[in-house]
Amino acid sequence: MKNKCVYPGSFDPPTFGHLDIIGRASVIFDEVHVAVLNNTSKKRMFSLEDRIAVLDAETKVFGNITVHSFDGLLVDFMKKTGIDVVVRGVRNNTDLDIEDQMANTNKILKPDMETVLLIANPKLNHLSSSIIKELIRLRADVGSFVPKSVLQMIKRRK
Ligand code: PNS
Repeated sequence: MKNKCVYPGSFDPPTFGHLDIIGRASVIFDEVHVAVLNNTSKKRMFSLEDRIAVLDAETKVFGNITVHSFDGLLVDFMKKTGIDVVVRGVRNNTDLDIEDQMANTNKILKPDMETVLLIANPKLNHLSSSIIKELIRLRADVGSFVPKSVLQMIKRRK
C-alpha cells in the first residue's frame, strides 16, 4: 500500500510557504495529493484553474505530487481517494488553534484519519495568502512571497 497524504487548502494564491510544506511532505510520503478547495460561495482572487495550474507547474520538480480540486467536505474527498492522512502547515499559535479544531472535527467525521502538522520554516512563517492578496490589491511587489508563475497570473488579471 502506498503511503499517501492530502495537503488541502484554498491556495488563493499559492505562496512559497505552501510550496515548502509540499516539498517537505513529498519527502515523508510516497504520494502527496494537493487538494484545492473550490468553494463557489466564497469570493476568490484567483480562479480554480489558475490556482491548479500554478501548483501543477511549481510542484513538478518533486516528482510525486498530484493536484486536484475538491468541494464539500475534505473527509469526503479522502474517502473517495482512499487517503487517511492530512498534512497542514502551522506558522504560529493562531494556526495551531484552527488546526486543532479542524483536525478534531475531521476525526469525528472520519475516525480512521490522522492530521500531521508540519512546523512552518521560520524564514517563511510570515507568509499568508490574505496578506499577499492585500499587497496585490495595493499594487505592491510580491515577488519575494510567491513564485514567478503567480506573478504572471497577477499580470493576466490586470
Ligand atoms: O489553508 P486554508 O485555505 O485555510 O484551508 C482550509 C481548508 C480548505 C483545509 C478547510 O477549510 C477545509 O477542509 N474545507 C473543506 C470543508 C470541510 O471539510 N470542513 C470541515 C472541516 S473543518
